Amino acid sequence: MSVVVTGATGQLGRLAVEALIARGRAPGAITAAGRNADRLAELGEAGVATARIDFDDPDTLEEAFRGADALLLVSGSEVGARELQHRNAIEAARKAGVNHIVYTSVVKAGETTLILAPEHALTEEMLAASGVPYTVLRNGWYSELFEAELQQAEQSGSFLGSAGKGEVAAASRADLAEAAAAVLADPAPHAGAVYELTGDRAWTNDEVAAELTELLGRPVEYRDLPAEEHAEALMDEGLDDGTVRFLVDLDRNKLDGELALVTGDLSRLLGRPATTLSETLRSLYRDGTAQ
Ligand SMILES: NC(=O)c1ccc[n+]([C@@H]2O[C@H](COP(=O)([O-])OP(=O)(O)OC[C@H]3O[C@@H](n4cnc5c(N)ncnc54)[C@H](OP(=O)(O)O)[C@@H]3O)[C@@H](O)[C@H]2O)c1
Repeated sequence: MSVVVTGATGQLGRLAVEALIARGRAPGAITAAGRNADRLAELGEAGVATARIDFDDPDTLEEAFRGADALLLVSGSEVGARELQHRNAIEAARKAGVNHIVYTSVVKAGETTLILAPEHALTEEMLAASGVPYTVLRNGWYSELFEAELQQAEQSGSFLGSAGKGEVAAASRADLAEAAAAVLADPAPHAGAVYELTGDRAWTNDEVAAELTELLGRPVEYRDLPAEEHAEALMDEGLDDGTVRFLVDLDRNKLDGELALVTGDLSRLLGRPATTLSETLRSLYRDGTAQ
């Protein structure tokens, strides 16, 4: 049985390839697909097949997907372009005769105000209409994205935001990749399932600050600001208007609890507790200080 993984040149997809191999899948029965030629060459050195694909070029997709029993469709990274890109990928999978598509969506897609959700919700609708058996992995907020807060805390003893007491049930990329590999190992029982893959608990920024205080061994404070002041602070750091709006809107989503859902789906697929945010912060800190 062969599996194609898109986004394998990126962080989550690469971890999924590694998780498939760790579960005993022969590297030769995995195709790592992506655009970046250097990263594809690195993956090839691990013994997996590689394919250069571009979501904007349907021919590359159909060719790469032909003969695959299962496809892990890791959502693309170009926000705003993904509806068409994912449509291309699903259509190519259907034409190529792929037996099962596993798609990485976002938590609560379809029933959330999360600014990133609309393209994922549309993709889920396309999957349902495709006629190809599929499973949706609605991934929660990556724990690794708290590296930004860690870095601010290391530099200044505080980090800024406008998320108030909003909670985030973050999950590590490695866990999410391992869960994807668990589904890909035997996709049929998961056909039609929609999993909300969250951490086992949710964290407020005050709790993250307390964790960073312990990790760094000095006081770390979360400075909560009104949205306009948060935007001004980000502009003072030199961020462009689009990025500022994006980050402030995301904090609004956090404040509204759009990333707070805790379901246990992730730990159930893993067969163990999910990696905690504390553990991921510790790894990020170790990796950062080891350089
Ligand atoms: N849950 C969360 O917190 C969260 C946060 C951010 C993003 N995401 C979503 O999760 C996905 C995976 O996350 P990640 O951290 O692994 O992202 P990443 O490291 O940026 O990887 C993105 C992958 O998408 C591929 N890609 C982008 N545009 C493509 C195109 N036109 N054709 C073919 N491949 C294309 C990239 O290929 P190349 O590098 O070869 O171009 C790369 O392999 C992201 O793409 C995004 O949809 C989730």
